[in-house]
Amino acid sequence: MRPKPPAGTVLARLDDLPDPGARASAWEGGAVVLIRRGVTVTAFTNLCPHAGLPLCLPDGRGLLHAGETLVCPVHGASFDAGSGDCTGGPAAGDRLTAIAVEIVGPEIRAV
Ligand code: FES
Repeated sequence: MRPKPPAGTVLARLDDLPDPGARASAWEGGAVVLIRRGVTVTAFTNLCPHAGLPLCLPDGRGLLHAGETLVCPVHGASFDAGSGDCTGGPAAGDRLTAIAVEIVGPEIRAV
């Protein structure tokens, strides 16, 4: 199980994220996946509930389909970018672990 970031932890700069797009945080070696859609950012523990493997590629990129669906690169489970609910694939009925974040100036911080 990966740790949750303490409140106030800077997870990324907003400008470091593709828009729309998904990327692993630098914090704890990519422990959090951040999803940006305009000025909205959601964050989840970077582990797929199907087999407990990272949701991001080794280079940190996350696969965001149509700006709304995060796709696990291992077996293709899909997750709603806002809620983290599984919307298809082998993790059906499961969901990602949400991490509350806020945008403070140029930074994305854990709440
Ligand atoms: S580990 Fe993500 S779908 Fe299997």
